[in-house]
Amino acid sequence: MEKEIAVNCKQIRKSFGEGPLRFEVLHGIDLQVQAGELLMLVGPSGSGKTTLISIIAGILSHDNGHCELFGQDIDAFSDTEKTKFRGEHLGYVFQAFNLIPMLTTAENVAIPLLLNDMERQEALKLAEERLSQFGLGDKVNNFPAQLSGGQQQRVAIARAVIHNPKLIVCDEPTSALDHENGTLVLNHLREIVDKENRALIVVTHDSRIFEFADRIVHLEDGNIASEKQNHNYS
Ligand SMILES: Nc1ncnc2c1ncn2[C@@H]1O[C@H](COP(=O)(O)OP(=O)(O)O)[C@@H](O)[C@H]1O
Ligand SMILES: [Mg+2]
Repeated sequence: MEKEIAVNCKQIRKSFGEGPLRFEVLHGIDLQVQAGELLMLVGPSGSGKTTLISIIAGILSHDNGHCELFGQDIDAFSDTEKTKFRGEHLGYVFQAFNLIPMLTTAENVAIPLLLNDMERQEALKLAEERLSQFGLGDKVNNFPAQLSGGQQQRVAIARAVIHNPKLIVCDEPTSALDHENGTLVLNHLREIVDKENRALIVVTHDSRIFEFADRIVHLEDGNIASEKQNHNYS
């Protein structure tokens, strides 16, 4: 069976700044990710990793090039269509977690389900189950500020996967996690990729989790410097 192409980026360019201060941070990136693939994006700080995944997720615009998700040109969508598409098909873990402080952890995790019109009690129940899988069953009624950094990070990951999106994008998802919790989360993400045929892009510096990847792409100064297939999985 031919695999579905989840992400198809062609010649993506992005600059920041205006006039003489303008500088280009992505110099024409070609990248494809398939459904059922766990791709890790690695590279030095400032190489453009967050910029690239923000463009893929439709959070940031690009200057040139083309990016399709599941064969659809997201650039051609209206803002409303983009929001709907993202809400249904995309999960995003921000580097800074972006949890909502006045909601409990279960309420935070339930947000994507509520936005997709699930009934509140059912959404909270699923959120609590997911939090339990991430070792946070006893924290469902706590607020983010009452949790450690590592616990907040797991809440952010639970929120990104709760609605079973077709594409999950995680920015440094293990930066605040110890080895045990990093492995717990990656095992869980790996299972989603394999069993649900989801596409996952993980930006990371964490060599402890490289073994979970199908493919590792190195970004250097806004270019893809190299890529390598990981034979553990592929
Ligand atoms: N909103 C922005 N405005 C100006 N410069 C930015 C902005 N976002 C990122 N940059 C710059 O773009 C480059 C790439 O940043 P980023 O994509 O965050 O790198 P990485 O995630 O690999 O550390 C850096 O030089 C950074 O300072
Ligand atoms: Mg970054």
